[in-house]
Amino acid sequence: MVYTILMLRDYTLKPTEVPEHRPVVLTDVQKTELKEEIRELLYEQDATLVAHFYVDGDIQDLAQESGGKVADSLEMARFGRDHSAQTLVVAGVRFMGETAKILSPSKRVLMPTLKAECSLDLGCPPAEFEAFCNKNPDHTVVVYANTSVEVKALSDWVVTSSVGLQIVEYLSARGEKLLWAPDKHLGNFINQQTGADMLLWSGACIVHEEFKFKALADMQTVYPEAGLLVHPESPAAVVAMADCVGSTSQIIQAAGDLPHDMFIVATDRGIFHQLRKSHPGKRFVEAPTAGDGATCRSCAHCPWMAMNELRQLRDALVLSRNEVHIEPELGARAMIPLQRMLDFSA
Ligand code: 13P
Ligand code: SF4
Repeated sequence: MVYTILMLRDYTLKPTEVPEHRPVVLTDVQKTELKEEIRELLYEQDATLVAHFYVDGDIQDLAQESGGKVADSLEMARFGRDHSAQTLVVAGVRFMGETAKILSPSKRVLMPTLKAECSLDLGCPPAEFEAFCNKNPDHTVVVYANTSVEVKALSDWVVTSSVGLQIVEYLSARGEKLLWAPDKHLGNFINQQTGADMLLWSGACIVHEEFKFKALADMQTVYPEAGLLVHPESPAAVVAMADCVGSTSQIIQAAGDLPHDMFIVATDRGIFHQLRKSHPGKRFVEAPTAGDGATCRSCAHCPWMAMNELRQLRDALVLSRNEVHIEPELGARAMIPLQRMLDFSA
C-alpha cells in the first residue's frame, strides 16, 4: 500500500543530535497569568490538556487542575481517546500527538510544538524499518509507541513500557516469532524476562542510555538505604540493579508501594515533579548520567520534552497552531495495532 505521508519527520536529523533549545525563563507572575489564560482557552475551545510526566511541572499542574491528565504514554493515549473534548492539546513529544490523532481522527489535536522529536522515533525511519520487516516475513512485528505513524502502520502490535512485557509474553506463549523495534534496551530486557528471543532493531533513547552502572554503584555506596527506580530504556547493567523497573507511572506507583524513604531515580528528571507531589514524605535523587570527568549529552532531561513551554501552549490554542494531521488511510492502518494494545490492557 502506498501512503501519503503528511507528517514525515526530517530523518536527516541524527537521533543523537541534541537540539539547541533554551526554555524562556518566566517569572511567577507571568506563569500564573499564562496558566489562567490557557485555562480559559481550554474551556472556551472545548479542549483538554494531556501531558507527559517529563514536561515542565507547570504544564503538568495545569493539566491536572484543568481536568486534563498527566500520565505515561499508555494512559495519555487512553485518556485522549475516551475524553469527550473535541480538541486535545498534547504536551509531550510528536509520537504522543500522533497517537492521540490516530485514536481520535475526528478530534483536533494540537501540540505546543511539532519539533519535539524522540531519538527512538528518529532512529527508526519507515523505509528502513519496512525492509527489516520484509526480510523477516514470518515474524510478528511489535513496535514501541515511540515511533512514527508510518512505523506503527507497518506493525502488528504497538506496546508501551507499561504493557510491553505482558504482550510479548502472551505472543511468545502462542509460539509466535517476534521482531521488535526500536529500543534495543527495552527489547533486551523483555527478551530476558520472557525468553522470547525477539529480533531487535538497534535504537536507543539518548536520555536513558546515559545512565552509568559504575557511577550508580558508587552512588549506592553513598546512599545504601535508597531504593532504585529505573525506566527500562536504560542499559541492562543499570536495569539489573533496580528495585523496580517500569514505565513512568509504574515508577511513581512503586515509590509509594516500596518501603524505602529515599530513592535514586534513573529516568528523565521531569518525573521528580510528580514523585515529590505524590510522595511528599520521601526523598528522590537523580541517578548519575556519567562517570567522573565525563560529560553528559542529555543530562537526564529529554531535550525534546523540554521544548514544551507555557507560551507555545497558549499560542497553539490562540492561533490554532501546530495541529497534528494524519492521512486517514494511514491513520486507520496504524489504529489496528494501537487498538490491540488498548484492548489487551483494558
Ligand atoms: P512511558 O510510557 O513510561 O511514559 O515512557 C515514555 C518515554 O518516552 C520514556 O522515555
Ligand atoms: Fe524519546 Fe528518550 Fe525523550 Fe522518551 S526520553 S521521548 S524515549 S528521547
